[in-house]
Amino acid sequence: MPHSRVEAATSCPPVVRSTNSLRIRYSESGGLTSRSVNARPDPGLSVRHPVDVEAKKRDIWAEWLAERRSGGDSAVRAKQLEGLAPVRDKVLDRARLAPGERLLDVGCGEGLIGFGALERGAGHVVFSDISDDLLEFCRATAESLGVLERCSFVRAGAEELVGVDDASMDVVTTRSVLIYVSDKRRAFTEALRVLRPDGRISLFEPINRFGMDERRDGFWGYPSNGVADLAERVEAVYGQIQPPDDPMLDFDERDLVRLAEDAGFFPIELELQAEVHAIHPRSWPVFLNSSGNPKIPTIAEAMEQSLTPEERERFAEHLRPLVEEGRGVSRMACAYLTAVKPG
Ligand SMILES: C[S@@+](CC[C@H](N)C(=O)[O-])C[C@H]1O[C@@H](n2cnc3c(N)ncnc32)[C@H](O)[C@@H]1O
Repeated sequence: MPHSRVEAATSCPPVVRSTNSLRIRYSESGGLTSRSVNARPDPGLSVRHPVDVEAKKRDIWAEWLAERRSGGDSAVRAKQLEGLAPVRDKVLDRARLAPGERLLDVGCGEGLIGFGALERGAGHVVFSDISDDLLEFCRATAESLGVLERCSFVRAGAEELVGVDDASMDVVTTRSVLIYVSDKRRAFTEALRVLRPDGRISLFEPINRFGMDERRDGFWGYPSNGVADLAERVEAVYGQIQPPDDPMLDFDERDLVRLAEDAGFFPIELELQAEVHAIHPRSWPVFLNSSGNPKIPTIAEAMEQSLTPEERERFAEHLRPLVEEGRGVSRMACAYLTAVKPG
């Protein structure tokens, strides 16, 4: 299972851009205490997550963004966020956001896109998500930054943007959210509904199918010769949770264009980026404790579920040097789509 269920979060080449009026600083104190929406090392404001959300168990979305995406390693998390800054910038560049405009970010997460839009002078940003924890995180961040009056927070799924009025938005953005949405057709229709005439949608999605073609072999991009039977059993844990018809895998870039067109967007522009390259060396504990997306176990958990202790040892003995020395191949693709609601 090289990259099938992995969020291609940071894989696309950067478009470097700098906007510096509004900064959140990444401070490493563990857990979900601090997040960066800027992911730059500039000095700035440090934001802490409110105590009530820190204390209770986070939902899977908040937990993944906070911990499991990075294997609980704060340096890895900082690097991932740094890698996301160019993706955020490209989504916003392509949205052609003008100062004062109203932007809705669907599946806002920790506010990567929304706070980026505020930095660029958006008049108002609507943060929407299905995760109460993440909406609360964004609200607390906005308060810390003194931009609360330019923000609102809506608990809504992409498929039904409850609480967002027809034709009320200049721009809709979304990043790595449609991969979790079964009814993508409805998500596009909803985006069209809330946009004003001549409003734009700008989105980024991983195209996970790209990593699933016949060239894939081994385990997560690493050769599995000698342990193929074990690799298959670990892989089966993931296959059961996210089979090929899972929303994460059931579309490609052509489908995105088709869905946008069917919804009524025109014109539409899509940029596909595909990369096949060596996997950079990784820390073994980080590899073991990371999960590719919020819905699947970490590799350590999947090994625990599917292998005996002796088998785990044999599997780890094979895999560890490959991971630490970067002897694997990454196959990732992602798409940026921009489209206009006809005037
Ligand atoms: C990978 S995170 C991306 C967060 C954010 N867009 C970013 O770029 O950092 C996926 C987000 O989608 C949200 N999400 C999942 N399913 C959703 C749905 N059906 N509608 C809206 N948001 C959803 C999750 O709560 C999470 O915040």
